[in-house]
Amino acid sequence: MAFTHTYAPLTARAAGPLSGRLRLPGDKSISHRAVMLGALAVGETVIEGLLEGDDVLATMEAMRALGARISRSENGVRRVNGFGVGGALEPDRVIDFGNSGTGVRLAMAIAGSHAFATTFTGDASLVKRPMGRVTDPLRRMGAQVLARAGDKLPLTILGPDRMTPIEFRLPVPSAQVKSAVLFAALNVPGTTTVIEPWPTRDHTEKMFAGFGANIDVTLNDAGERVIRLEGRPKLKAQTIVVPGDPSSAAFPIVAGLVVPGSVVTVEGVLLNPTRTGLIATLREMGARLTIENERTVGGETVGDVRVEHSELRGVTVPADRAPTMIDEYPVLAVAAAFADGETIMEGIGELRVKESDRVATTLAGLRANGVDASEEKERLIVRGRRTVTGGGTVVTEFDHRIAMSFVVMGLASEKPVTVDDATAISTSFPAFRDLMTGLGASIAPAPAGATAAA
Ligand code: S3P
Repeated sequence: MAFTHTYAPLTARAAGPLSGRLRLPGDKSISHRAVMLGALAVGETVIEGLLEGDDVLATMEAMRALGARISRSENGVRRVNGFGVGGALEPDRVIDFGNSGTGVRLAMAIAGSHAFATTFTGDASLVKRPMGRVTDPLRRMGAQVLARAGDKLPLTILGPDRMTPIEFRLPVPSAQVKSAVLFAALNVPGTTTVIEPWPTRDHTEKMFAGFGANIDVTLNDAGERVIRLEGRPKLKAQTIVVPGDPSSAAFPIVAGLVVPGSVVTVEGVLLNPTRTGLIATLREMGARLTIENERTVGGETVGDVRVEHSELRGVTVPADRAPTMIDEYPVLAVAAAFADGETIMEGIGELRVKESDRVATTLAGLRANGVDASEEKERLIVRGRRTVTGGGTVVTEFDHRIAMSFVVMGLASEKPVTVDDATAISTSFPAFRDLMTGLGASIAPAPAGATAAA
C-alpha cells in the first residue's frame, strides 16, 4: 500500500514571553469512548466539548459504518443515536482509522463481538503498530482474526455467534488493551474479569458505570485492580461534557515554564489522577505551577493550570508513574533539556510502540538541537544545561506529539527549531498553532513542503 502526503514543516522561534489564558479541546480518550458508548447505548447521547481531531472523526466514521447515526449542531454539540449492545450492523466498507491506535483497538473489540466480518486498516504509522495485544484476548473470547504477520493492520475480524467471558490479566500496562477487552465484554453473556497489575487511565470503567453497566472494581491481595463486568447490559443514552485534554495541555504548560517571563493559564484541564503524572513530575522539577478553580465536570475533576517561567532541575521519574503520563514523555524531555542536571525517565518501554518509537524520535530530536541525551531499552536520559542551542530539523515520523514537543522547544531555544511535518498535529490538537500564537508564540510554516512517500 502506498501512503503519500505533503509535508508541512513548521518553524518555532523565541519571540518573548508567552502570556494569557487558553481553553483546550476535549480529552481524546474520553472523546473516543463517548462516541463509542453513544453508539452502544439506546437513545440519543449528547456530547459537549468533543475533540474534533482526525482520530475522533475516524471513530465517528467507524461507528456510523456499524450503524450509529451521528449529527452535529452549530455549537459543535454532537448527538449519537446508538444501535445498542449487540446491535451493530455488518459494515459495507473497510474501516480506515488513519493514525488512531485507540480508535482502531476499541472498535475492533466492538465489531469483533458481533457475528460478522469487519476489515480495519490505517495509515503508514498505524499499520506498523502491534495489534496482537488486542487480538489475542479477542481470539480467546471466540473471535477469528485474519491478519498479516504479528497481527498488524490491515486485518479482518470475525466474531462468533456468542463470545465467551474470560479472565484476562493485562500483559502490558495499557488502557487500550484493558478497554478493548471491556468493550468486547459488553456483548458477552456472563462476567468478564480484567486484572490490571499497573493502574492505567480509568475512563472506560467510569463511563461504563455512567451509562448503566454493572461494573465493579476492587483491589486483590497483591494490590492489583480487578475489574468485573456483567455482559449484555442495556446502556442508557447520556449527556457527556468532555473535559480539556491534559495531554494537549502539556504543550502550553511546558512552553510557559521554559520561555522566560511567561505566565500562562490553561483552563478546564482534566485532573483525573490516572492522567496527572506530568504535573507531579514538573512540580518535583521545581515548576511554579498552581491549580485554580478546581471543580467537577461530568464526574471528573477539572481545574485551571497556571504556570510561570521556572528554573527547572533534573529528576528521576519512577517507572510506576509511566501509565499516568505515558503520552507526555516527549514534552517532558523538552522541559528536561531546559532544566539543570540529569533527568532519568524509567520504565518507558511502551513509548516504543506509540505513533512512532517515541524514545528514538525524541532522542533524535533532542540531539538534532544540541541536547546531550541517551537511551536504553526502557529509559531515556536527558542531561539538561538550562539552555538549548536549537537550529535543528526534527524528523517527526507523522507523530503529533513529537511535532508539538519540538515546536515548544523552538520557542525557548537560542536558534529556531523546525519540525519536518506538522500535519499529524490535527489528529489530536487541530487548534495548537492558533492557540499558541495567541499566547505570543512565533510558529510559522517553513519553506519546502515536499511530497513524500512514507
Ligand atoms: C489511550 C491509552 C494510551 C495512550 C493513548 C490513549 C486510551 O495508550 O497512549 O494515547 O485512550 O486508552 P496505551 O493504553 O496503549 O498505553
